[in-house]
Amino acid sequence: MKIFLDTANIEEIKEANSWGIISGVTTNPSLIAVEGRDFKEVVSEICKIVNGPISAEAVCMEAPKIIEEARVLAKWHPNIVVKIPIMPEGLKAVKVLSSEGIKTNVTLVFSLNQAVMAALAGASFVSPFVGRIDDSSWDGFTLIRELVPVFDHYGFETEIIAASIRHPLHAVEAAKAGSHIATIPFKVLKQMITHPLTDIGIKRFLDDWAKVPKKQAVKS
Ligand code: G3P
Repeated sequence: MKIFLDTANIEEIKEANSWGIISGVTTNPSLIAVEGRDFKEVVSEICKIVNGPISAEAVCMEAPKIIEEARVLAKWHPNIVVKIPIMPEGLKAVKVLSSEGIKTNVTLVFSLNQAVMAALAGASFVSPFVGRIDDSSWDGFTLIRELVPVFDHYGFETEIIAASIRHPLHAVEAAKAGSHIATIPFKVLKQMITHPLTDIGIKRFLDDWAKVPKKQAVKS
């Protein structure tokens, strides 16, 4: 499973990228708004840091305008993927954009039918929002577990991004379900790398190492 970072924060992206595990970044209007900076400026900066698909969301609601907006976004950098909500106007836009070679990430997906339609229209990525499904008292990963074999069966090239990940167990479920990608907030990524037994183990090794007689000084 590939890991994308779900944030528009440059410091977080730089740090996570330095760990060597990030294959892409997803943003949305809410994440951009948190940064309080110009949209193009932030997205262009992200493209310079991470060499992989960078999702930037279109905010127009009619197909001709979405297409126009997407063409502009796609010119910012070759790695830009245009995020488009699942809706009839969105599908029309995805169809045209995919024929032009512009990559799309169909977002706000909450059902198998929505995901299949996005794939049929030619979406490069589809983003089921597992956390928000959980919020509605349903299991977000039931959807991912259903989607993976359906996409495999029909040979769809569209990659599934488990999105709206809220905690480390969501990332575990995404991997177990066979999601191609999980897009993860930096806070959750940090939680995923830590374990109390790792901390205790490191401390014990260092304490024991301090007791070892050393003929030659080793820097620690
Ligand atoms: O990738 C989608 C994500 O940004 C939405 O997350 O937590 O707002 O549901 P959330």
